Amino acid sequence: MAQIEVRDLQITYDTPKTGERFTAVEGVTLSVEAGEFVTIVGASGCGKSTLLLAVAGLVPVSGGTIAIDGRTVTAPGPDRAVVFQEASLLPWRSVLGNVKFGLEMQRWTRDDRTERAMRFIRMVGLANFADYHPHQLSGGMRQRVNIARALAVDPKVLLMDEPFGALDAQTREVMGDELLTIWEREKKTALFVTHDIDEAIFLADRVVVMGRNPGHIKEIMRVDIPRPRHEDVLDSDLFNGYRKRLRAHLAEDMASMHLVEGAQA
Ligand SMILES: Nc1ncnc2c1ncn2[C@@H]1O[C@H](COP(=O)(O)OP(=O)(O)O)[C@@H](O)[C@H]1O
Ligand SMILES: [Mg+2]
Repeated sequence: MAQIEVRDLQITYDTPKTGERFTAVEGVTLSVEAGEFVTIVGASGCGKSTLLLAVAGLVPVSGGTIAIDGRTVTAPGPDRAVVFQEASLLPWRSVLGNVKFGLEMQRWTRDDRTERAMRFIRMVGLANFADYHPHQLSGGMRQRVNIARALAVDPKVLLMDEPFGALDAQTREVMGDELLTIWEREKKTALFVTHDIDEAIFLADRVVVMGRNPGHIKEIMRVDIPRPRHEDVLDSDLFNGYRKRLRAHLAEDMASMHLVEGAQA
């Protein structure tokens, strides 16, 4: 049994205007092994966030099942941490205070909390900024804090919804590199939504391609690039092959809609 088991998932939303239910995701089946890094790509509105939120337990399941280690997901839990595009940091707390926050919900002594929080702050390269407040940090730094906070609570599963989507291209690449290094050390299971094709391939063991109306899985593509990975792989024939395959998928969906790179549903 895989760590994340999504079976024939359906998610519907209320549409107050018509009173009908809108089907955002249908017939999605996906297994993710412990320690695997799976990315999800697809045009805006194809249900990427919905799928991720459902696994997080933040959106109710209308049909099918989601299980983590065999336990059915009905609500958020400490086995899963979510990182959103906008770093949801507490503005009145320092970097250290923000990373400690999640640990305050768990049973750590005060000293252990600080030590553990600092370990993850160092890991994301912010040791010298522990006393800073969110407004004193760049977008990339805030997202580093977000990732440190998610990792510090030691979840089994890391759920990330376009975590680097608001960052400039260069920062984004650096963050992707860093995330991989941390992930290789921490051995977390990762489900990562992006609409950046290169990012999806570079990070993934497998790329899930979703399509629209209603949201479904079109293909699951295995990425056979050895790890650790370096930026130079982006120019390889192997990478180009994957890139072409994903572009073809997305081109189908984009033909019917106006999708600007970096656009957000
Ligand atoms: N809370 C909601 N209520 C109603 N419809 C929603 C809600 N969230 C998302 N949707 C709709 O569900 C579909 C999938 O959305 P979403 O999962 O955000 O897609 P993506 O993340 O791939 O852009 C879209 O048509 C969107 O408008
Ligand atoms: Mg989304």
